[in-house]
Amino acid sequence: MKRAEIGTDLIKAEQILQNGGLVAIPTETVYGLSANALDPVAVARIFEAKDRPSFDPLIVHIPSIHFLARYAAEIPDLAWKLCDAFWPGPLTLLLSKDKIIPDIVTSGLDTVGIRIPAHPMTQALLSRLLFPLAAPSANPFGYISPTTAQHVADQLGDRIGYILDGGHCTVGVESTIVGFEGDKLIIHRLGGITVEQLRQITDTIEIRVSSSSKPDAPGQLDAHYAPRTKLLIGDIELLLEENYGKKLSVISLHKSYPRAFRCFVLSPSGELSEAAANLFGMMREADQSGADLIIAEEISETGLGRAIADRLKRAAYRI
Ligand code: TXA
Ligand code: MG
Repeated sequence: MKRAEIGTDLIKAEQILQNGGLVAIPTETVYGLSANALDPVAVARIFEAKDRPSFDPLIVHIPSIHFLARYAAEIPDLAWKLCDAFWPGPLTLLLSKDKIIPDIVTSGLDTVGIRIPAHPMTQALLSRLLFPLAAPSANPFGYISPTTAQHVADQLGDRIGYILDGGHCTVGVESTIVGFEGDKLIIHRLGGITVEQLRQITDTIEIRVSSSSKPDAPGQLDAHYAPRTKLLIGDIELLLEENYGKKLSVISLHKSYPRAFRCFVLSPSGELSEAAANLFGMMREADQSGADLIIAEEISETGLGRAIADRLKRAAYRI
C-alpha cells in the first residue's frame, strides 16, 4: 500500500493543493485534511478520503481577517469583535456564505464555517495560496481526531499525498463553533475557546450543543470521536471495583491508578490546557493498549473542562 510522505516542504504542499490534491495540515487544535475550498472536485476528494457523509459541512481556513468579507456575505458586529479577540485561534464562525464558496463545502447550507488557524506552518502555507483551504479533522469519520502527523499517517496514510508535520497540536481539541441569531451568540460546538472567554465579549450566549442523531452538524452526533474499545465515564475507584477481573485502561485527569492495566494521566498537575492537549493522543493509546474496557474520569465542566467532558461523552456513547 502506498504510504503518505510526512515532511515540512511548503512548496510541495502548495503544488499538490494547486493541482486539486489533498494535504494534511497541522493546526493548533487538531490536524486537518485540506483541499482548495473553491474547487468542488478537490473538496469531493476530502469526503471520499474520510468516508465522510456529504451532509457534514467543512470549515474554511483563511490566512487573515482581510479575507473574511470575500467568503462571508454578512458579518455582524459581534463577529468582528470575536475575530479581534480570538483570531488566529480555535474559534470557528458560522456566517452567511458568499456564492464563491461551492455548495459541497457547506453541504448545501447557506452558512459557512470560517476560521484563521494559529499554527505558523499552516499560516505560512495559507499566505502562499491563492485560495482558502477547506479542512475537516484528518481522521476517518467518527474516529478520534489526530494531534500528530503520525496519527494522520496511521489512519489515512494511503489516501493522501502529503502530510505537513507541524509537531504536536498545542490545544488538542477542535475549535469552538459559534453562530449568530439576532444579538445572540449560539455555541454549536464546545472547543478550544471557552464559554468563559466568550462571555468576556458578550453576555447573550446560548449553548446549543445538544446531541442529536440527525444533526446538521455531525460533530454533534452522539457517537463521535470514538475509540473502538468500549469506554465508560465515572468514578474510577468504583469502576475499577465493578469491573474487577477485566483488563482496564484508565484515563484520569491527574491521579495515577497503579491497579489499572494501563493508566493515562492527562495532566499530572491537573491543568486543563495540558489535559486537552493530551486527550486525543491518550484516547488513541488507551484504544490500542489491549484493554477490555477504557474507564475515564468525569471531568468538571468549567473552562476547557467542558470541551474535554464533551469529547469523552461522545467517545463513550454506543448506539
Ligand atoms: O479545530 C477545528 O475546527 C478543526 C481544524 C482542522 O480546523 N476542524 C474540524 O473540522 O474540527 P470537522 O469537520 O472535523 O468539524 C467541523 C464541524 C462539523 O461538525 C460540521 O458539521 C460543523 O463543523 N460545521 C461546519 N460548517 C458548518 C455550517 N455551515 N453549519 C453548521 N455546522 C457546520
Ligand atoms: Mg472532526
